[in-house]
Amino acid sequence: MNFKLSTSLLALALSVSAANYKRVSCPGGTHTASNAACCVFFSLADELQATKFDSECGEDAHEALRLTFHDAIGFSFMGGPSKGTGADGSIMLFDSIELQDHANDGVEDAINSLKPLLQNFSVTAGDLIQFAGAVAVSNCPGAPRLQFLAGRPNATFPAAAGLVPVPEENIDNIFARMEDAGFSPTELVSLLASHSVGRSDLRILNRTGVPFDTTPFTFDTQFFLEVLLKGNETLPPAPGEADAQVPNALAAQGEMRLQSDFAVAHAPQSACFWQSMVNNEAAIQQGFHDAMAKLAVVGQDTSKLIDCSEAVPIPPPAVNKPATFPAGTGPQLLQLSCNAPFPSLATDPGAPTTIPECPNGDTNIGDCPS
Ligand code: HEM
Repeated sequence: MNFKLSTSLLALALSVSAANYKRVSCPGGTHTASNAACCVFFSLADELQATKFDSECGEDAHEALRLTFHDAIGFSFMGGPSKGTGADGSIMLFDSIELQDHANDGVEDAINSLKPLLQNFSVTAGDLIQFAGAVAVSNCPGAPRLQFLAGRPNATFPAAAGLVPVPEENIDNIFARMEDAGFSPTELVSLLASHSVGRSDLRILNRTGVPFDTTPFTFDTQFFLEVLLKGNETLPPAPGEADAQVPNALAAQGEMRLQSDFAVAHAPQSACFWQSMVNNEAAIQQGFHDAMAKLAVVGQDTSKLIDCSEAVPIPPPAVNKPATFPAGTGPQLLQLSCNAPFPSLATDPGAPTTIPECPNGDTNIGDCPS
């Protein structure tokens, strides 16, 4: 190749790559984006953080994260397309129908909070739900920054009833339901890292904000450890909810254990993977990132979606503390269904304490406790 030709080829390559890196200025001048279609999500992230989540890993963020699952799981390979088109916003667009399914009890809070944003932001309901979930979890220390692809078409019909798993369901049915939407037992374990920032508002008598672990405002592995601690106390169930929970070691401190979480932790298909999550922050981050990337596009043609992950805020780093047995518990309470070696963990000193109801112990947040 002569010198003139090779320099012009180099110049061409540089100009193509410069074009690739050229960012678009978004309206308002505050943000730039790799693709003009992503601009709206930068503004939406600002709005969500300012008016919905207070940039906190609090109740509203938890509820928005839960909504991502309840929309996306409305999909069935076996039942065919008429059962639902997955992460398509149907739970918001057809809320009066889908909310009749008992499994969706409680998700109306997130729908009522987020739905008005459809008036002011030109996004589809499916995009709004998955994006809000990604922004929500970005407020939780230790969470991975989730992928967000934009461009889901709006659902044109509701998902069928019975597709969202319930906590009292037996484990074979739970695994079968997840598999029917494309998820293996170990992917379910990864998704359940979400319960590390989860609390129940409906399953316990006269109580809201009942956590699944001692650190419900940080995305950490305490949840995977605490589910493995044997206990003999349950909290008084709300009417009709007795089968949703099993006894747990921290009921006196205000914690509850979902039957489904317990069952996944002990099933032969998932027990070893569950145990391997304990004190392995990097593993829950990677597993959750990958499983959520899959969940967020269930039923969607990803070749038609645009990567706008850059609009998802960067989460605060993990709390620099290994998993520990909460005060009053210890290794003697471990109930293990996998005989792989278990990590050696310290026990928190002192007397058992009540689990905080607000992020950072802050009691001034309007909606905290829920
Ligand atoms: C077998 C699958 C699952 C079952 C049976 C299940 C069940 C439940 C139940 C019963 C609650 C408490 C609701 C209440 O009483 O207020 C809950 C909360 C929650 N779930 Fe799940 N869940 C499952 C999977 C998932 C997945 C895959 C995600 C996320 C991607 C998720 C995210 C959440 C979150 C964030 C909360 C807390 C909501 C809050 O604090 O207000 N869940 N789940």
